[in-house]
Amino acid sequence: MKVSVVIVTALLLLGAVAAFRTLEPKLPAAERGRRLAERTGCFACHGPEGIRGVSNPGRADKTVPNYEGDLMMFAESPEEIRAWIERGVTPKRARSNSWKAERRRGTLRMPQFGRRLSARQIDDLVAYVMAVNGKPEPEDTLAARGRERIEGLGCVGCHGAGGRLARPNPGSLKGYVPSWDGADFPELVSGEREFHEWVQDGVSARFKTNRLARFFLGRAVLKMPAYRQRLEPGDLDTLWAYVRWLRRGE
Ligand code: HEC
Ligand code: HEC
Repeated sequence: MKVSVVIVTALLLLGAVAAFRTLEPKLPAAERGRRLAERTGCFACHGPEGIRGVSNPGRADKTVPNYEGDLMMFAESPEEIRAWIERGVTPKRARSNSWKAERRRGTLRMPQFGRRLSARQIDDLVAYVMAVNGKPEPEDTLAARGRERIEGLGCVGCHGAGGRLARPNPGSLKGYVPSWDGADFPELVSGEREFHEWVQDGVSARFKTNRLARFFLGRAVLKMPAYRQRLEPGDLDTLWAYVRWLRRGE
């Protein structure tokens, strides 16, 4: 009798721990970076989400660069992005006299965050800047076409740049829109078939019949739309190729 009570209690506890584990937020690096950038003041100069640099009187380039279009003029690699954030300049530019003069003339200057933030936090910021810049790009043509289609179909609104972000989604199970390269993706999408279901119907057959999942899907502010009527021939293949490329972490 007593032994069975202990066993039942232990099982309940284990169940609670397991449930808690799956509910634990697992934000992808780019989303951690986006949230950190917001808290750290980056968007004050680089504009909302870092895509609309504010006016920088005195400088020839007129505005603070943004992470989207301007970045490649300023940084050719993740290492250079890291250098900008840590030291406020790349080693190459630090040696240029014309850059020094420009920096002096400008009203706003890129601060150094190397002492203020940890290496891990800077990794996250680099991941965010790269995501907004659409780097790296898929070389595979099918995946590259999928990358274009997620813009055309508007997926990037909710799933963020490249499908790499996890924006807040009040009322949802984990509190955010799941990203495609996040750790919780496999819980939601077991393979190509379920991916097709999500995109065509806005939910997988597995989730549709699960009461708990249905409860949270119904409560969330942002809901995955059903794209069945909006897709062009070939879309499902290119979108899946893109997501697979993304998850291989290239
Ligand atoms: C006070 C304004 C200001 C703040 C705050 C600021 N930056 Fe900058 N940032 C600049 C300016 C100005 C440049 C251009 C640097 C130059 O050419 O001297 C720049 C350049 C950069 C670059 C390289 C060029 C590009 O395309 O963006 C990156 C990356 C960058 N900043 C990231 C960040 C991040 C991440 C943060 C927050 C942790 C941040 N910045 C905060 C003003 C700012
Ligand atoms: C209006 C916001 C919104 C748009 C636009 C949107 N989604 Fe979603 N998507 C969601 C939400 C929210 C979820 C999580 C399930 C839920 O709460 O309904 C989700 C879930 C998914 C999932 C399941 C797993 C995961 O980790 O992401 C896939 C796959 C997916 N969306 C792909 C797409 C694709 C492809 C497009 C564009 C064709 C797209 N979504 C457009 C909001 C959106």
